[in-house]
Amino acid sequence: MAFDCLNLVENEGEDYGSALNLLFLGVGDLRNVALTCASLPDSYTNKLLFTLNDTAVCVLARLVLFLYMLIKGNSEVVKMVTELWYSIPLSEQTYKYLAKTLEELIDIRSAEDLKSRTSELINIAEDHLKKLKGVWKRWLHLRVKGTDWILRQRIENMRKYESKYKFDPEYIQTIPKRHAISARKWIEDGDFRRTDLEVPAFAENPTLTGYDHGYHPSSVDGLYSYAVQWDGLPFCGWDYLQTKRFKDSSCLVTMFGEYIEHILQRLKNTLSKNQVKFQVVLCDCVHIKNHLETNTHYDRILTSNMMDYIILPVLLELCSHLLNHSNSCATIITETLTWAGDFGQPIRSSKSKMIRIAEADVRRYPGFENGHPKPAGFQEYVDDSWDFCNYLRALFNAYQLKKRMATQDSTRLKVPITKELGKEFKLRLRDCFRNENKIVFFKMSANRRTVSSVEGDERFLEWIPLDKE
Ligand SMILES: C[S@@+](CC[C@H](N)C(=O)[O-])C[C@H]1O[C@@H](n2cnc3c(N)ncnc32)[C@H](O)[C@@H]1O
Repeated sequence: MAFDCLNLVENEGEDYGSALNLLFLGVGDLRNVALTCASLPDSYTNKLLFTLNDTAVCVLARLVLFLYMLIKGNSEVVKMVTELWYSIPLSEQTYKYLAKTLEELIDIRSAEDLKSRTSELINIAEDHLKKLKGVWKRWLHLRVKGTDWILRQRIENMRKYESKYKFDPEYIQTIPKRHAISARKWIEDGDFRRTDLEVPAFAENPTLTGYDHGYHPSSVDGLYSYAVQWDGLPFCGWDYLQTKRFKDSSCLVTMFGEYIEHILQRLKNTLSKNQVKFQVVLCDCVHIKNHLETNTHYDRILTSNMMDYIILPVLLELCSHLLNHSNSCATIITETLTWAGDFGQPIRSSKSKMIRIAEADVRRYPGFENGHPKPAGFQEYVDDSWDFCNYLRALFNAYQLKKRMATQDSTRLKVPITKELGKEFKLRLRDCFRNENKIVFFKMSANRRTVSSVEGDERFLEWIPLDKE
């Protein structure tokens, strides 16, 4: 779910006097970039440099396409970008604008050319641009006018990976009843159109397709199919509570659509002031250093849920070298979605009691009074801090054991205590258990956000330079 990764007010201060460098490993989509730029206080007038990394070429092709549109387009463009981001059916206006922009991007001669056409805002290596162009060509030539194959593939995916997409029948049962009609309609038709709603759709959205879910670069020439992961869906990508504060409506497409357009408009304003620049890096994040200028240091490093794939100490070692240790607010953010599964189900001794508490609580939430008082989960009521601490300590212990084995050192190893975690990389973990996080909630209240499909097992950790706070 999107968050402002700077939160300047609680970190460096809203009129901080220096430029800020931000690195996103496994960036996925533009949501955190957009919300961070949209949340910049007016009093902050310095520059932001984003380095956006992903290993999937289709992901970056989409991201650069949207940035290019937002840089070049007029005020109408935010509606079209929102539609392209989330809607399967496209209006004629949006499809034609997409085709024109893809042609323009394909025509770009070199990385230098892209840079100059975007007022120096987008920087990318020549060979990476070439790969992105391959995707833009495929999207431009996909047969999508008057078709329904993308929608059919999406329905098939949702059926196959029901629990992953979280759009099983339970989903409708757990969201406030007044949203049920619009949620059901969107699940059936994927229509998130923001333009020309009165007329039938003109084409399907080719930018929602990619090869093999974007994970196997070797199959770039293979078949393109619907390739959006569940967290790329509109209601999962943005916080329901924040959205509701901006625009409340029984229709979720109206509610989220207007909120996203507002965020994109604010992002567009920062782009038009040349306040932000982007470096786009297509590679496995473990090799990121090879693509950065030496001595580049970052004030924020976001790592998505990479710690579910790369053992946490290895990820922290990589990031700590890139962190700006002279800024005491510099932060590495790591997220885990799967820890509970990896660790073995934590002891949830009083499950039925927790469920009863959850049910009673949910019934009291505004919006749930008229029906569907069904909690999505009981996790948010369980205090599993002890399990989670042990999980983190075990990760560091495993890392140290592995290092020992490599050096054939046989001295006894102690499992590190929580306070010491990260110390060997000159990092300190903000005490998430005592609400010390300053950028993103350590643990989100799930049942207030059932529309955004928060489960309650997500955990966010903030690592800062040691001895600087
Ligand atoms: C880590 S995935 C998370 C997706 C989803 N939250 C989940 O759990 O399946 C987010 C993004 O990271 C990218 N990614 C995955 N492994 C990567 C790696 N080793 N280096 C860079 N990006 C990576 C993916 O292409 C995707 O766009």
